[in-house]
Amino acid sequence: MLIRRPDDPDGILPSDITPRELYLDRRRFLALGAAGALMSADALAALSAKKSLYSTAEKINPLKDITSYNNFYEFGTDKEDPAAYSGAFKPRPWTVAVDGEVMKPRTFSIDELLKLAPLEERVYRMRCVEGWSMVIPWIGYPLSALLKLVQPTSRGKYVAFETVMRPNEMPGQRSRVLAWPYREGLRIDEAMHPLAILAVGLYGDVLPNQNGAPIRLVVPWKYGFKSIKSIVKIRLTEKPPATSWNLAAPDEYGFYSNVNPNVDHPRWSQARERRIGEFFKRDTLPFNGYGAQVAQLYRGMDLKVHF
Ligand code: MTE
Repeated sequence: MLIRRPDDPDGILPSDITPRELYLDRRRFLALGAAGALMSADALAALSAKKSLYSTAEKINPLKDITSYNNFYEFGTDKEDPAAYSGAFKPRPWTVAVDGEVMKPRTFSIDELLKLAPLEERVYRMRCVEGWSMVIPWIGYPLSALLKLVQPTSRGKYVAFETVMRPNEMPGQRSRVLAWPYREGLRIDEAMHPLAILAVGLYGDVLPNQNGAPIRLVVPWKYGFKSIKSIVKIRLTEKPPATSWNLAAPDEYGFYSNVNPNVDHPRWSQARERRIGEFFKRDTLPFNGYGAQVAQLYRGMDLKVHF
């Protein structure tokens, strides 16, 4: 039996490579089979992603939950909107510009990004600030792989991210529900942590538009809104960057936004959560269950102040 040790990324066995067909329901598998000859290079690369030992062994949510009940305000504020209104969004061609406090600023094409580091499958628990959670098999690699390439300077203390601005393809950007483009940020040590990944796929395939195609951040110990989708800009900064949700409601959404059952949202408790697909609620864990890996990043900080 494979014993998963989240703190030990070594020892990946050939048997850990997850056959894609195990994931896909029969209908989807057959459809992909027909389209097989047309599969893009990145989809093929995703096939060979190794299962990371940072993965949880918890039951994975069905693809349908992950792709049809989620938040992507650029496509509307209802949970069904991202799937319903992201069909016209074009995730290619695509570039991500990385600049600011770095020695080697650079603009990466999506093809360069797909090959930047070995792809891994990371099955992560994800906890939305609204009180629901899912388990998602992401495909990606550590954000640190990209940051190391551009060489942050000693003044690069934070990492700011921006989503693409395309009101023609993203109907939600035509309303003022948030200050567009969507912005997020991490402290540099959070960004360099091996659990923080850039995801380019899920369920053994490229990212669906509604989940942040073609490339998005995934930070599993923070509330879901930190995991910014469809990234086009990454900037290293000396000061904490402005973030969309903090700008919208600073009393409700702090910069850190670590999952914390002991700090309630001003309008609701964060002590429990509903795993999508389950009836009974479960207790929310500090740092979403990743405390053994990340709690030391916050040693000495009052997490009620730095929420
Ligand atoms: N990124 C952008 N650009 N726009 C958004 O509205 N929503 C966030 C986050 N990233 C959001 C975003 C929220 S609230 C959540 S819970 C997660 O995306 C959901 O990601 P998923 O649906 O792929 O799990």
